[in-house]
Amino acid sequence: MYADDDAAALYDLLNPWDASDDFYLSYVLAASSVLDVGCGTGRLLHRAREAGHGGRLVGLDPDPAALARARRRADVEWVERTAAGMTWEGEFDLAVMASNVFQVFVADEELRASLAATRAAIVPGGRLVLGTRNPRVRAWEGWNPANPIDVVDHQGRELRVLYQVESVAGDVVTFTETTATRDGRPLRVDRASLRFLDVHEIDTVLGGAGFEVETRYGDWSRGPLTTGSDNIVVVAAAKEPHA
Ligand SMILES: C[S@@+](CC[C@H](N)C(=O)[O-])C[C@H]1O[C@@H](n2cnc3c(N)ncnc32)[C@H](O)[C@@H]1O
Repeated sequence: MYADDDAAALYDLLNPWDASDDFYLSYVLAASSVLDVGCGTGRLLHRAREAGHGGRLVGLDPDPAALARARRRADVEWVERTAAGMTWEGEFDLAVMASNVFQVFVADEELRASLAATRAAIVPGGRLVLGTRNPRVRAWEGWNPANPIDVVDHQGRELRVLYQVESVAGDVVTFTETTATRDGRPLRVDRASLRFLDVHEIDTVLGGAGFEVETRYGDWSRGPLTTGSDNIVVVAAAKEPHA
């Protein structure tokens, strides 16, 4: 996802700490051992340590550039691996998939294996907390060059970031993120695909992996989920194996 350190640094600039991060942080601070699946540049666990979390914090991500930034804090374990490649067995009270990591698992088998490995890593009765964009709101319709984001990067460069949807194939949206100069000269183009599952599909895949959905919210203030909610926020419990 992040081509290099510049791209990873730019991710942090484009995604400043917000209400969703406070939401996840509240769960992290209440758990003694935490697995941050798709931790990216590590900001959630950085903040947890800064806030005094004294237990085990592990961040996992397959992206070396993101993890290089995460490793600026050495008092958190950082693991370069995909979710499906995890092999922990019952080591965590809590797993989180913050900033819509759930949506990066595009293929059925990758989604199934990622959730199964996450379930295995959590103790029975532990929790998985995740959020995913509500497909009914069709957020991707706003991802077009008419909605650029202007940013000054860590080198002081004035940049413009533009999004363009390439395809919507079933529940998978493929789009480009172009980092350009303010006058439109492209410096880098990244392509990504995200999957948009609805409430019923989320319940089904979580159930198949050994989770039971406990609570759903429609925003980061724990408001109710409605058809017009931007986000589907899920707290799921890890069921006893073979229960
Ligand atoms: C939108 S970013 C979210 C990063 C971080 N959770 C945050 O809140 O800033 C999605 C992250 O998922 C990671 N990712 C992509 N494929 C993955 C996989 N198969 N397993 C785990 N993480 C993955 C990416 O490298 C990226 O860091």
